[in-house]
Amino acid sequence: MPVKVLVGMALGDCGKGKITDLICSDSELVVRCQGGGNAGHTVIVEKYEFKLHHIPSGVINGIPALLGAGMVINPKSLCEEIEELKSQYINTAHIFVDGSAHINLPYLYSYVDTIQENGRNTSIGTTKKGIGPAYSNKYSRYGMRFWELDEFLKNVNIPDKVTENDIPFGLIKRLSSIYEKNNVDNESMLMQDAIVLVETYPQINLVDGKKFIREYIKRNSNILIEGAQGFYLDIDYGQYPFVTSSYTTSAGACLGTGIGIKDIGSIIGVTKAYSTYVGNGAYPAEAGEYSDFLREKGHEYGATTGRPRRCGWLDLCMLKDSVEINSIDEIAITKLDVLTELEKIKVVTKYELNGETINYIPSNPSDYAKCKPIYQEFDGWGKDIKGITNYNDLPDNVKKYLNFIEQYLDTKITIVSTGPERNSCIFKN
Ligand code: IMP
Repeated sequence: MPVKVLVGMALGDCGKGKITDLICSDSELVVRCQGGGNAGHTVIVEKYEFKLHHIPSGVINGIPALLGAGMVINPKSLCEEIEELKSQYINTAHIFVDGSAHINLPYLYSYVDTIQENGRNTSIGTTKKGIGPAYSNKYSRYGMRFWELDEFLKNVNIPDKVTENDIPFGLIKRLSSIYEKNNVDNESMLMQDAIVLVETYPQINLVDGKKFIREYIKRNSNILIEGAQGFYLDIDYGQYPFVTSSYTTSAGACLGTGIGIKDIGSIIGVTKAYSTYVGNGAYPAEAGEYSDFLREKGHEYGATTGRPRRCGWLDLCMLKDSVEINSIDEIAITKLDVLTELEKIKVVTKYELNGETINYIPSNPSDYAKCKPIYQEFDGWGKDIKGITNYNDLPDNVKKYLNFIEQYLDTKITIVSTGPERNSCIFKN
């Protein structure tokens, strides 16, 4: 079946952008299913670096893109992203937004996100992009979808430079009710939100997403659905409350696009060769004295926030859970070159919890916080592997590392990325 789903296997920031770019060339449609501007997908093509937050990475290859109903979309950031792509000579005429996607109000929800973060005893460490408030308003049914905005604006003459006088009264009234539900009384912020909604409206191509995608499925076209974040940031299966507000597992690909479960042909999981994390929750696999080495070598700073990432060893207990919950068929492993120079490389194979040995992540976050990692140690390879494209050219110690991961997870590794550039990659098997 020609629908492929790509998901992050652990804690996000795993290089999904590069892998999408590598595997999407035969796709006729690329789709994002959840999240919003909290994602940061970087793709490097020759001397160009593309940073995408809302738009699926496949758009760089000129493939039509759909932003699915499960997303919360900040129209201001989306339009800035589109402008940035245009300035890099990317065709943006085929970027479509499902009208059922929720609007992430650019000013209100970031403001509420920040207030909520500052008001917690232990902050979650959100991206402050308004993701939590946008989903909260969606689920409490105060939120505004693009369809509703369309009703307010479809017959309105919109000038290039929008002023307060151009905003329909009904829209202001509706925004006032959302502000009220969020306990925010700030007229000038409300006007800023209103102006942005009106100004960006003509630039956004709305479609009926489920129907749009169904046409592609009927034609048997290849479709790539690109997940954002990763399994252990999932609203239900992550380390609550240190999670994002959407479904980050492969099931989220159906929920957020309107495709059926049986339409999915294969599921590709992406993981780095080590781990990173940008939240404030427990992180037992954190690599202590090696964390700084991994951060500097791997340039582990958030693409969306610039925050330094916490760095750790690969956590096979987490990845095993991820293979199971996502029904992963094959694995792409990224940033393997970052581990070169380490004399010893560790992976978590088990945890000790209250005197017992377990090989999974306990669902109760307070148990997870108590877990003590048990490692398997590997000899490093001491030879630069950056840019290697042939599996047989890898040093034996790299192959031992990869074989161990494959065996532990009982899943084949099909792509190995050995550097940031598009062609620094091995297609294995
Ligand atoms: P939010 O999605 O901004 O609400 O953030 C909730 C948690 O998810 C925080 O720990 C964020 O750092 C994390 N998070 C959100 N998006 C990403 C991402 O794209 N990569 C990695 N972590 C993310």
